[in-house]
Amino acid sequence: MKILITGSCGFIGFNLSLFLLRKGYKIYGIDNINNYYDVKIKYKRLKILKKFKLFKFYKFNLEDEKKLIKIFKNKFDAVIHLAAQAGVRYSISNPKKYIQSNVLGFFNILNACRLKNVKKILYASSSSVYGDKKKFPLKETDIINPKNLYGLTKKNNEEMAEIFKNFYNLNLIGLRFFTVYGEYGRPDMFMMKYLNSKKFFDLYNYGNHYRDFTYIKDVNEIILKLLNKRNRGHLILNICSNKTIKITKIIYEINKYVNKKNLHINKINLQKADVVKTHGQNKKVKELTNFKNFTSIKSGIKFLTDWYKEDMKN
Ligand SMILES: NC(=O)c1ccc[n+]([C@@H]2O[C@H](COP(=O)([O-])OP(=O)(O)OC[C@H]3O[C@@H](n4cnc5c(N)ncnc54)[C@H](O)[C@@H]3O)[C@@H](O)[C@H]2O)c1
Repeated sequence: MKILITGSCGFIGFNLSLFLLRKGYKIYGIDNINNYYDVKIKYKRLKILKKFKLFKFYKFNLEDEKKLIKIFKNKFDAVIHLAAQAGVRYSISNPKKYIQSNVLGFFNILNACRLKNVKKILYASSSSVYGDKKKFPLKETDIINPKNLYGLTKKNNEEMAEIFKNFYNLNLIGLRFFTVYGEYGRPDMFMMKYLNSKKFFDLYNYGNHYRDFTYIKDVNEIILKLLNKRNRGHLILNICSNKTIKITKIIYEINKYVNKKNLHINKINLQKADVVKTHGQNKKVKELTNFKNFTSIKSGIKFLTDWYKEDMKN
């Protein structure tokens, strides 16, 4: 099976590529290796993937439609679209990047899939589409109302996917990821930021945030099951553990394994683009994939910190 994974040097794209390569899939990766966060970790991930003969890599922007179409001559059995300008806070200072990568980039992917008759498309949406909500857990059928431009581009992706399904009969699955964490994680996200901080750490909303943390290896397993499942039309799924955890509890768990005694925690106000709480219902994805054993936050943090301490030595 030949699979195109966009964003293959990113956190989820790298972990998923590695997982599928180990299972014998042929993976074609695309990434522009942008500098939204330190590119060193992106090159480090790429170096690992390049060790596999079954991995082929292309470095370019998805906005470049001509290059993208050329790559589709490889006749992919499936496309997993994970490339995007991620990050909620960054969307305030850099709005245009979100339109370029997430709207135009996504259109180019869908259009290439249409022209080259790709049978299966999975794409990353986000829990950010929900916005600030009062009623939990969040269900796929709830009304969505994004609070920031990032979430709005993901809502637009879902709507564009629906139109492509209606007019061109594409088979699509939109994955609403809820705070994915784990090995080779994103340095701009809470857990890695906390692990990497030495002297000071800004704790937004005085630590009163709640997130439905989802372990990366659960995400890999779910995507594999979805790849091998026949689906018609356009599905949207929450990809979450269905457990919401207070941020201060995460700090407590990480501190069990990593010495942060000299770290000064600076408690500050809520950031305007942030939502206060996420907590998703995962009934739909469980029923569809039969994946039931989500990794507990305690185990996930243990795996993450074990990896982190080992990685620091290299
Ligand atoms: N990590 C999470 O918790 C989370 C939560 C919700 C949604 N998502 C979504 O999942 C996907 C993967 O997220 P991630 O955490 O791995 O992010 P990431 O930033 O680590 O990975 C995205 C990768 O895409 C690449 N990229 C960005 N724009 C591109 C473009 N125009 N052309 C080519 N490459 C481009 C980047 O260089 C990066 O390596 C994204 O779509 C993100 O919005 C992630």
